[in-house]
This record gives sequence, C-alpha cells and structure tokens, in this order.
Amino acid sequence: MRHDHLITSKQLSRADIETVLDRAAEIDADPSAVANRHANSVLGLLFFEPSTRTKMSFETAMKRLGGSVVDMGSIESSSVKKGETLADTVRVTEGYVDALVLRHPKQGSAAMAGEFVDVPLLNAGDGAGHHPTQTLLDLYTIRENAGLDDLTIGIMGDLKYGRTVHSLAYALTNFDTRQHFISPESLQLPREVVFDLHQEGGGTQIREHDSLEEILPSLDVLYVTRIQRERFPDENEYQKIAGEYQIDLETLEDARDELTVMHPLPRVDEIAPEIDDTDHAAYFEQAHNGIPVRMALLDILLENNSDADTRGETDE
Ligand code: CP
Repeated sequence: MRHDHLITSKQLSRADIETVLDRAAEIDADPSAVANRHANSVLGLLFFEPSTRTKMSFETAMKRLGGSVVDMGSIESSSVKKGETLADTVRVTEGYVDALVLRHPKQGSAAMAGEFVDVPLLNAGDGAGHHPTQTLLDLYTIRENAGLDDLTIGIMGDLKYGRTVHSLAYALTNFDTRQHFISPESLQLPREVVFDLHQEGGGTQIREHDSLEEILPSLDVLYVTRIQRERFPDENEYQKIAGEYQIDLETLEDARDELTVMHPLPRVDEIAPEIDDTDHAAYFEQAHNGIPVRMALLDILLENNSDADTRGETDE
C-alpha cells in the first residue's frame, strides 16, 4: 500500500512546504523544462461540489506536465446519481488514473476515501474541513510578497466554515508568525482548531478579534474570506452576518503601504473592486499561482509513485 495522500495541511512539515514551493518557483521560472515530464500520466477529477479555480488549475497543471485528465463530471451526469458510494467511486476510478483529486461537501470525506485507494489522493476541499493545495498556493503567494518568517497576518471573515482558513492556520505554525483572527463571534475559528494552534506552539502566536481596526496597522498580510452561505444550517443566521467584514479603500487608510491583501476567491462583496488596481491586491496573482504550485505537487507525487512502482518491480 502507498499513501502519498494530501488530506490536511497538518501533514506538512516546513521541509515539505519548502520542497513544494521551491519546485513551484523553478517551474514558474521555466515551465518548458517540465512540458513532457508526465506524458503518460492521467489525473482523475472527482468534484462533488462546484469549483472554478481548483478544478481548472489542476487540469491545466496536469496538461502542462504533458499528462491528461479524466473528469467524473457533475453528480447529475455520473453514477453518483444512481446512489454509488464515495468508497466505490474512488475504488473504481483509481484503476483509471495515476492520481485523484477529490472535492466533496462532507468533512472527513477525503480521509475516508484515501483509505480505499493506493494512488495519491489530493483533498481539494472537504466541507468545512481542509483545502491543503489552496494552502500551498497561499504560502507561495505570501512568500513572494511578504516572506514566511517574522510575518504578521490577519485572517478575516468566516473562520468557522472556511476550510482555506483552517488549512492555512495549521501550515503557518511551521513558521515564525503572528496570526490574528478577525470575525464575528458566531464565525470564530472552531475551538478545536484554536486548541491545536496553541498546542503547536513553536514560533506562532494566536490572537482573536472582532474588529479589523485595532490590528490593521500592524499587518503584513490581510487574508479575507467569503462568508460560506452554503454551509449555514439557517439562512436567517447568514443574513445577520452578510455584509459585515468587507473592506474598501477607506478601510485600508491605516494599513501599511506594503500590506498584501489576499482572498482564496470566489469573492462576493468582501473586497471592493476599487482595491483591485492597488499594490495591495494579490488575490488574482494568488489564483494564478495555483498552476506552478499544483504542477510542483503533481510532479513530486507522480515521481514518488513511479519510484515506488520501480522499487516494487525490482523487489519482485
Ligand atoms: N479557492 C477555491 O477553492 O476556488 P474554487 O472553489 O473556485 O475551486
């Protein structure tokens, strides 16, 4: 059995992160060097929830490595509609591909699915759980704009349901960071995540706030997130929160000139479009970084897997 799965960012050490980011930087500098590197490899896409960035950037990344992609398509057009279990879907599709990318609305689904397959399985978002490949491109963007050590970051918005937040917060504990979490009380980080972050200790300091104002002038990076309407059990609760925690140029008057504003996207109304053309805005660059970072990740995993195949043949 081989388990090169990426399920949560808790799995990632500083060395793991630096390996992927360094590889991504090499690919970014010279994508043609890897254009045919995985010409015979196939990536399987299993998306049980909508996606633009993650799905398209994984597909582009695989094609730019010379490989190809098979996509389960929508739930409506697949045998999921007939009641097939996730366990059966991944068991079947791993026979068609060299790696699987899974997005699913249920927290824990990727960890469960990973127990049924030998090919690398990458969690592309499991409900309000984790989104570790987003985290790697977030870290790449932070490293390019502000550096990853001696970093003061504010993470604002829906910290309860935001899987990109959970993954990023854990990964940042590998670095010397001050993490400030800004949200209404009802959307604070889950207490178990706060507990874990304190337990991780290391060079990370954790603070929670209900307002951006007091902390904004000290920030190197402000990571804004969307309120996850689809995860609210009660629409009335969503309506009470919607519209809070938005930023515009006036909000940023007290920010450092070097402040980097990030957002995993899609945004709704959290960041006013007037910020898009300022030097603060890094969210489109962040989305574009999904290509070299996912190319790097696929390159490393497929290479590991092919080495394991070769070793298996030699052993026999
Ligand atoms: N950031 C992100 O996961 O975007 P998508 O939902 O479009 O994949």
